[in-house]
Amino acid sequence: MSTKTTLSNYEWRHLHQRLDRAVAESALGYLSRLNNRRIRIDVQQLSDELDELRLGREPDYNLPGLPLFYALKYMSKRIVSIFGSLFSVLDGWKPNSVLDVGSGTGATAVALNLLDIPHQIKLLGIEPSQEMIYFSECSGRRGHVSNTYRKGSVADLAKNNITLSSDLIVFSACFPYGFDDWDSLMTAVGNYKGQESKMILIVEPDAKSDLLLSFRHRLSSRGWPTTTFCCHDLLNVIKDDSLPLPRITNIWQRLGMDDSSRPKTWWNPPDDKFLVANPKPATIGRQSAVLVG
Ligand SMILES: C[S@@+](CC[C@H](N)C(=O)[O-])C[C@H]1O[C@@H](n2cnc3c(N)ncnc32)[C@H](O)[C@@H]1O
Repeated sequence: MSTKTTLSNYEWRHLHQRLDRAVAESALGYLSRLNNRRIRIDVQQLSDELDELRLGREPDYNLPGLPLFYALKYMSKRIVSIFGSLFSVLDGWKPNSVLDVGSGTGATAVALNLLDIPHQIKLLGIEPSQEMIYFSECSGRRGHVSNTYRKGSVADLAKNNITLSSDLIVFSACFPYGFDDWDSLMTAVGNYKGQESKMILIVEPDAKSDLLLSFRHRLSSRGWPTTTFCCHDLLNVIKDDSLPLPRITNIWQRLGMDDSSRPKTWWNPPDDKFLVANPKPATIGRQSAVLVG
């Protein structure tokens, strides 16, 4: 399969517009869902709650309306991070099925869609917060990516054998500060032997780089080849944060949020760090995807 290794400014502008449209459409869908549930949001309360992330703490993702603020402020950056890292590593190998752990507002589905993989991809998102699931469900089907979101957490992966059925497993900024449930996680991930056709992508901000190191150590001891890189290693074109996000910004402003904290697709610090287990998956003997459950 031929593989693109660069993106022109023109191509990136087009993808950027698609990203803007996708996030804004989901945000409007979620707002209308809140309306149907007769929930009024308190902009100041939600903005303060989201600030917990900046302070290195976990916000209450189950607070109605919080996913909207999370998505407007952070989802674009998460999409670009997942898109950029997968664009760098996928090469000729493309997943048929994806497990998105801690799927949040559905950034992985949008990133996969922007990659324009020319076949159907089934994505299963596992997410502990029902409110986040409500938001991700508003994104609907995206191009070749069909999404299903289910309530669950890292701890449930091992219990339900969920990881076994996916080609690509994504953990994007889903580990809470102080995560220590390594036994459940490593039971779910298992040994490399017999899983040579799978890839695992882990993305976390610099503040959680210790967690990536621990994960890498544990993966290596189970035979997984691993590689790490940083957001600075991604394509230069995607690091341009001057491109407008008109649809997302419009919703941001209508909620009364100021322009100084306007949504962007790229900023650092914090840097994003990437850990990829099995960056060159085997294609021989690969089975088609079946989602368990
Ligand atoms: C910062 S958000 C990231 C969401 C999404 N992956 C993204 O890239 O935008 C963190 C998400 O991880 C979820 N989460 C927290 N603890 C988790 C756990 N133990 N297992 C799975 N997901 C978890 C939260 O509910 C939240 O939706």
